[in-house]
Amino acid sequence: QQSPLKVAVTGAAGQIGYNLLFRLVSGALAGDRPVELRLLEIEPALKSLEGVVMELDDCAFPTLAGVEIGSDAEKVFDGVNLALLVGARPRGPGMERGDLLEANGAIFTAQGKALNAVAADDVRIGVTGNPANTNALIAMRNAPDVPASRFSALTRLDHNRAIAQVASKVGVPVTEVSRMTIWGNHSSTQYPDLFHARVGDRSAAEAVGDDAWIVDDFIPTVAKRGAAIIEARGSSSAASAASATIDAARDWLFGTGSPGREDDWVSMAVASPGAYGVPEGLISSFPVRCTDGDWEIVEGLDLNDLSRERIDASVAELVEERDAVQALGLI
Ligand code: NAI
Repeated sequence: QQSPLKVAVTGAAGQIGYNLLFRLVSGALAGDRPVELRLLEIEPALKSLEGVVMELDDCAFPTLAGVEIGSDAEKVFDGVNLALLVGARPRGPGMERGDLLEANGAIFTAQGKALNAVAADDVRIGVTGNPANTNALIAMRNAPDVPASRFSALTRLDHNRAIAQVASKVGVPVTEVSRMTIWGNHSSTQYPDLFHARVGDRSAAEAVGDDAWIVDDFIPTVAKRGAAIIEARGSSSAASAASATIDAARDWLFGTGSPGREDDWVSMAVASPGAYGVPEGLISSFPVRCTDGDWEIVEGLDLNDLSRERIDASVAELVEERDAVQALGLI
């Protein structure tokens, strides 16, 4: 019997949490390896979380090795191998951007410190809660004993959205689309790159054969998909965000690529080592391959003028966010 993988989820009583927990323990993350859940919520949401735990029990998942809940990060994060930081403060009415950064800053400084103090030595930390890149930066900078490479922000949902859009445009199954990249910030400035993506063994840009569609349709559709879902559903994407959170964690822990496509890559926002002109230490999305729990940026891709311009614009936004949280004393 393998030892359980200890997985923390924050904001576990929220909408993404409700779509995430059941799949995390039913094999989508770690196959038949048992998973122990550590669920963090704010005090007022603990009662609702107890209801979710009752439902988890009622599924009688053979791979669920235990569930603990609480509102004290140092207790909940104790010994965790994976922390999925989903809970964040949404932008309320009348809230300025600075207020939002400050409210989230309080959450992610505290959680970074708690992870630093009590997580397992091999911990990996994935941030889904928005603004994801900057929240990950804050947590990372508040956890000086955890290697910076263990922090990542989620751009896998954008990545998956981009794959789905291209597959539909070209009229192929999503499995034909590979080497997709989201560059930059998980925001409307993100840049989904079709010039290195592939459809079968052709360049995706060539397979699409319509540069105007890429600029006027594809890029804005992917970047504004979250808003389109809010408009249609009345609340923000939850099941797809949970699914992407699992995809990202599974590939990080157990490796990217699939049989016959070992050299495929995925998008993850990680601490830049200075690659592709992105300032060192900024949490920005790149093409990455993962092996045995470590990611590596795919190097050496040529960037055309459009790509360079779009990446620079998104990175400039990340620099602004970093400067704002620095000015607030959060990092
Ligand atoms: P939600 O509002 O339904 O749930 C958030 C939960 O977090 C709530 O239950 C709340 O009590 C909890 N929470 C707040 N502060 C907390 C703290 N300090 N510690 C622990 N829990 C805390 O929101 P939803 O829909 O589940 O989304 C969660 C986050 O994910 C949001 O920030 C959203 O913007 C973001 N998101 C990110 C995506 C991405 O692709 N990176 C995609 C979709 C959503």
